[in-house]
Amino acid sequence: MKIIVTGGAGFIGGNFVHYMLKRYEEYEIICLDKLTYAGNMETLESVINNPRFKFYKADIAEKEVISEIFYKEKPNIIVNFAAESHVDRSIENPSVFLQTNVMGTQVLLDACRKHGIDRYHQVSTDEVYGDLPLDKPDLFFTEETPLNASSPYSASKAGADMLVQAYHRTFGLPVTISRCSNNYGPYHFPEKLIPLMIANVLYNKPLPVYGTGENVRDWLYVEDHCSAIDLIIHKGRLGEIYNIGGHNEKTNLEVVQTIIRELGNGKIEYVKDRAGHDMRYAIDSAKIHNDLGWFPITKFEDGIKMTIQWYLDNKSWWENIISGEYQNYYAKMYDKR
Ligand code: NAD
Ligand code: DAU
Repeated sequence: MKIIVTGGAGFIGGNFVHYMLKRYEEYEIICLDKLTYAGNMETLESVINNPRFKFYKADIAEKEVISEIFYKEKPNIIVNFAAESHVDRSIENPSVFLQTNVMGTQVLLDACRKHGIDRYHQVSTDEVYGDLPLDKPDLFFTEETPLNASSPYSASKAGADMLVQAYHRTFGLPVTISRCSNNYGPYHFPEKLIPLMIANVLYNKPLPVYGTGENVRDWLYVEDHCSAIDLIIHKGRLGEIYNIGGHNEKTNLEVVQTIIRELGNGKIEYVKDRAGHDMRYAIDSAKIHNDLGWFPITKFEDGIKMTIQWYLDNKSWWENIISGEYQNYYAKMYDKR
């Protein structure tokens, strides 16, 4: 079995590469990543010399390059993690989100048609459903919830999902889609809430909470996301969408206060809200549970401890990131907020 993992030098793709190499001793994993600001070869350091692992620095939106890699490698399965993934950056500059998330997906789908594959899996997000109100806690996103994206990021992911479905219906391409809630865990880029707050506490910087901090996210430990994708690519019904979530809703304030408690200090600073800020995400994952037997293993109380410990033990991984171009990003996004 040969699997192409796009975006494997990023947070979830990187965790998935490690997960699959460990779980399947005979599988070959081909990682294909453009190495944008979010891609980091240090995430793949421990597997780079593994004979069952190969890395290509490549842009999923470059048709000829992708076609050549498919021709050479003849993969069975494609799992597409590659994306511009940060909502705040999509508000600053939407175009790269459309280029990678929509056009890149189209290039991959065309390569799948041309070269023939057993399955294309699109890693999507619960953000394609828009948001839920805070005062209706019994509402959840199901696979039938209409797409109602709020940000350029989520709109680009929704567009990609529709392309994937269209290639299934029109060309019979064997596809599946998963829509997951917020992940956390090792190798999470420090622009995102949890690693940003951990890094700021450790650097004695204020903890910038957007708006009132009442927004709710449904947090899932990254390894549980990997196990769900593993099940879908082996057993998921072609043409189907699967929601993935942990029934683990927390307000942003609760998350930040947990980090403060675990690390023993940290000062919250309320800052200007994100434009179009989604209020609440909450996933109904009954379908993947009932059809494929998936359920999450790691409780938030344990996962957040493991994550904080990982950032304490792997300072060089994230200090390398925040010492470079990230400083300019941070100043632009937070200095006068
Ligand atoms: P990330 O930003 O950490 O990693 C993205 C990776 O994609 C990076 O390695 C980057 O270099 C690579 N990449 C970007 N543009 C590329 C291109 N044109 N060609 C090839 N590679 C490119 O993102 P993440 O948080 O790991 O998210 C991975 C996927 O999971 C995304 O599709 C995202 O929409 C989805 N997702 C993320 C979450 C979450 O909580 N992080 C939740 C649900 C779904
Ligand atoms: O739900 C899945 C999505 O989760 C993925 O599709 C995205 O790729 C991923 O980035 C994530 O999106 P969010 O916007 O929910 O994640 P982020 O970590 O950026 O923010 C989480 C919440 O914390 C959100 O309500 C905004 C808030 N926040 C974020 C940052 C970076 C703050 O209050 N302060 C901050 O500094």
